[in-house]
Amino acid sequence: MPRASDEASTLRVENLDVTYGRAVSALRSVSLDVPPGSVVTLLGANGAGKTTLLRAVSGTLRLHRGAVTAGAVRYGDTVLDGQDPVAAVRAGVVQVPEGRRVFAGLTVDENLRSGGLGLGRRTPERIREGRDRVFALFPRLAERTKQQAGLLSGGEQQMLAIGRALMAAPGLLLLDEPSLGLAPQMVERIAEVVREINAQGTSVLLVEQNAGMALALADHAYVLEVGEVRLSGPAGELARTDAVRRLYLGETGETGETGETPETDGAAPGGAERGAA
Ligand SMILES: Nc1ncnc2c1ncn2[C@@H]1O[C@H](COP(=O)(O)OP(=O)(O)OP(=O)(O)O)[C@@H](O)[C@H]1O
Ligand SMILES: [Mg+2]
Repeated sequence: MPRASDEASTLRVENLDVTYGRAVSALRSVSLDVPPGSVVTLLGANGAGKTTLLRAVSGTLRLHRGAVTAGAVRYGDTVLDGQDPVAAVRAGVVQVPEGRRVFAGLTVDENLRSGGLGLGRRTPERIREGRDRVFALFPRLAERTKQQAGLLSGGEQQMLAIGRALMAAPGLLLLDEPSLGLAPQMVERIAEVVREINAQGTSVLLVEQNAGMALALADHAYVLEVGEVRLSGPAGELARTDAVRRLYLGETGETGETGETPETDGAAPGGAERGAA
């Protein structure tokens, strides 16, 4: 089982180019690191390429007719670009896709058992450990093991989707907009869960449009803009930059009441650096 404390388990994305079909360039020279034990968030508007980056890491790009055309993705010593999803799961990297996809016709329990399929080393004890972990995080799921997943609420389905991913005991969890469409209370619950999962030693790469929630959770943040890293830096610093506050935190910033210097083109005050080229 991969351990987040293992120094080797850093996710390293280097100068990544991704293209869909032959023509659509979705990512250009994107570099990003997720150090062991950290929460890193990836922010950006619709179509910026957030999901594409997660797909490149989890080996699911090809299912969407995408391909890495330059650069590399490594998790520890394992090269992940060009690999399939099973290879990523074996390496300890598991994605929870957008839109909280669960098997609607299967029960909660059956959904959980489907997590980590393909690992090929799932003893009954390992499965029990996984379920115990999931039910400790999500007591609501424990009360609904026999219920059809399609009948769960949206928030419960998101919990189940995360729970299923945890059944593979990942060292790195990739979360694609887990808070999308959920009520504020449920968003807060998801945030707590991300904190708990991380405290248990799993690194998290969190894609979010809810920048407030994501920046509060993350150690480090990246902002993608039309396929390129526009800004990156410690999450707290990024949250204070004018560009992020205006574009992603919904603040107007019209009066300059904070006394910060006006934003110059593309520059990030507060020490956040531009993304590495
Ligand atoms: N399967 C695909 N085939 C062709 N183009 C695609 C495919 N998937 C995504 N794209 C394109 O790649 C770009 C990045 O899309 P992506 O889904 O990664 O963005 P995103 O940041 O996740 O957006 P959102 O916030 O809407 O989920 C977009 O221009 C999109 O149209
Ligand atoms: Mg997306």
